[in-house]
Order: sequence, then C-alpha cells, then structure tokens
Amino acid sequence: MGRGIFITLEGPDGGGKSTQAQKLYKYLRNKGYSVIRTREPGGTKVAEKLRSILLDAGNKISSLAEIFLYEAIRAQHVQELIKPAVDEGKIIICERFSDATFAYQGYGRGKDMNMIKKLDSVATDGVIPHLTILRDIPPKTGKIRLVNSSKKQDRIEQENIAFHKRVREGYLELARKYPGRIKIISALGSKQDIHEKIAGYVEEVIRRNRIKRSRK
Ligand SMILES: Nc1ncnc2c1ncn2[C@@H]1O[C@H](COP(=O)(O)OP(=O)(O)OP(=O)(O)O)[C@@H](O)[C@H]1O
Ligand SMILES: [Mg+2]
Repeated sequence: MGRGIFITLEGPDGGGKSTQAQKLYKYLRNKGYSVIRTREPGGTKVAEKLRSILLDAGNKISSLAEIFLYEAIRAQHVQELIKPAVDEGKIIICERFSDATFAYQGYGRGKDMNMIKKLDSVATDGVIPHLTILRDIPPKTGKIRLVNSSKKQDRIEQENIAFHKRVREGYLELARKYPGRIKIISALGSKQDIHEKIAGYVEEVIRRNRIKRSRK
C-alpha cells in the first residue's frame, strides 16, 4: 500500500459506527489531515446502488449470492476510492469492510470461511486496514438503540438475536486473532469517551506511518 492509512470501524448494528466515524473525521480534519469518510456496503455510486439491492428487506437473496454482492461492492470501492486515496497519502475512515463479511456471512450465516477469505482477498486486491476499531456492544443494546432511532430495519438487521450473537462472537474472535490490528472498544461508554479512545489509537497509527498534515 501507499503512504496513507486505512481505518475501518466495525461492530454490530447500532454500535455507534456512524457517530464515531463522523467525530473522527472532524477531529482529523481540524488537525489538518486529508481525510475521506466512506462506508460499506457502498462508498461509490455503483456500489451504493448495489447496496440498496443488498439491504432491501423486500429482496430474497441466497446466502452465496449475498457474499458475491458484498465482494463485488468491495472490489468497486477498493479500485475506485480506497486504493487511490491511500496512494495519495490520505486517511480513509470506512464503516465496515472485510471483517464484517467474515463476521456476518462467516460466523453469522455459517458460510465456509475459507471460501469467503479467498473471494475477499481477490476483491480487496490485498488491501488490509492499518487499524480496525471494533465497537463491541451486546446485541440487545444495539437493537434498542436502533429501535429508538426510528430507522427502518434493513434485510440484515431483521435477522434474529441468535444471528446477531454469533456475529458478535465472530467479531470478538477476529479481534483475538489479529490483536495488532483490531482494537476492541466497549460501546457502553459516552460518545465522547469512546471518541477519545479511538483518537488515541488513530494517533498511534499516524505516528507509526509518519502521516503528514496537508493543511494548516
Ligand atoms: N456511546 C453511545 N451511547 C449512547 N448512545 C449512542 C452512543 N453512540 C451512538 N449512540 C446512539 O445509538 C444510535 C446508533 O448509532 P449509530 O447510527 O452511530 O450506529 P451505527 O453503528 O452506525 O449503526 P448502523 O449499523 O445502523 O449503521 C444513534 O441513535 C446514536 O445516537
Ligand atoms: Mg451507521
């Protein structure tokens, strides 16, 4: 990869990914870094179109086709946005990436993890986040937050609590496997406390990769 850094935010639905992505984006912008905020599934025009097909609760999609759709979206996103931005030395903040597919389709749906990993490495062309923040939250708390936010539930969010428990366990297992990259942060603290913890990890990665500020 080039000179930038690629940061992903992961965790179950309603864990506060969007909230923290926004806070981190503002924090880094204010410090003068070149930052891009994006998300999966989506991030580019075509990928966002595929997202709406994928998440539409009215669509019946086979679990295998679901994996290909996620990976198709990822391939487009990496080629069109993530790789070029990293090559230009930017900081990319992305909500969800490969770990989400491992957690939801692998652990959640029980699809063959080796098959998913193979497809994913083709789609990402070897792009791996420098840092992944895992926002850990008990599935019930996430659910309550979602219901309170009056957002309509999408095709994946509608899955039962047992599915979401497997996803959470899967994420925690990934974090145990890749402790250098994946940092777990309990989502139960205040938005500001969580932000400060995330900023601490991000500053460390910025130092390690010698990322320069482009604006004053
Ligand atoms: N630390 C927190 N404490 C209490 N409530 C929070 C906290 N962080 C976020 N929330 C609230 O929880 C809800 C979900 O947050 P947010 O949309 O950021 O989560 P998300 O992970 O992006 O969810 P989704 O998976 O739906 O995209 C929002 O109403 C938000 O204000
Ligand atoms: Mg969100």
